[in-house]
Amino acid sequence: MLALTFLPLLCSAVGTQCDISGAQISLPSNQTALVAPSEGPSFIGVAIGVQNYTCASTGTWTNVGAVAELFDISCLYGTPEFSTIQEIAFNVWKLLPPATPIQEIISFLEPYKASFVLGQHYFVTSPSGTGLSPKWDFTSGILAENPEAFVIAAKVGDIPAPTGSPDVDWLSLDNVEGDLAKQVFRVSTVNGDAPTSCTPGSSPISVKYAATYCEPTVSLRHFHILT
Ligand SMILES: *[C@@H]1O[C@H](CO)[C@@H](O)[C@H](O)[C@H]1NC(C)=O
Ligand SMILES: *[C@@H]1O[C@H](CO)[C@@H](O)[C@H](O)[C@H]1NC(C)=O
Repeated sequence: MLALTFLPLLCSAVGTQCDISGAQISLPSNQTALVAPSEGPSFIGVAIGVQNYTCASTGTWTNVGAVAELFDISCLYGTPEFSTIQEIAFNVWKLLPPATPIQEIISFLEPYKASFVLGQHYFVTSPSGTGLSPKWDFTSGILAENPEAFVIAAKVGDIPAPTGSPDVDWLSLDNVEGDLAKQVFRVSTVNGDAPTSCTPGSSPISVKYAATYCEPTVSLRHFHILT
């Protein structure tokens, strides 16, 4: 059942790393917070997953992390589907029973070592030792066998999604650790924002989202990832 539901997504995303060295991120022109990289990405992936929130004492939801699976869409760059792949991905993801955790999808796909799975996005203890940092980890995906195929990053730019809430912000992040990418961009987001308010004491929530991740140029190797 899970496999059948995923078929359209996988078929559209399937591909063995097409040349995207000339790919450009399309960013809103009326802002300066996100700066398009001068070099094309090494990876462009569509992610499905959850954004996690806890209820702060002020009665607002605070983002505390995320978990997502990233699929290679490099071969879609330049095709008509490229601009809507995140919506296709989100709609498939939304159809799955609410109780299907993203971790179950990650575990389900893991044994196949499928070339269309780039890797995973999750949070780890920050290299500074305090707080959490986002990580994009391709060591069990497309770059399995390369223990340095990850990036832990820190946010440097943030704009509201041009499509507005409930689509989560578009971000740019810079490498803090790992060889996968020098930067990561989260763009073309679908859903993922928390509701506007909460009752202090409420349980944490996970909100489904999809996004395109783009990882431009790297420290040691020239990998780019579009997330
Ligand atoms: C840019 O334009 C969008 C859409 O018109 C608008 O929602 C947004 O507030 C603008 N951003 C800035 C920084 O002016
Ligand atoms: C986010 O929530 C998911 C369950 O929905 C959980 O598996 C994951 O560990 C959480 N991660 C963080 C950083 O909160």
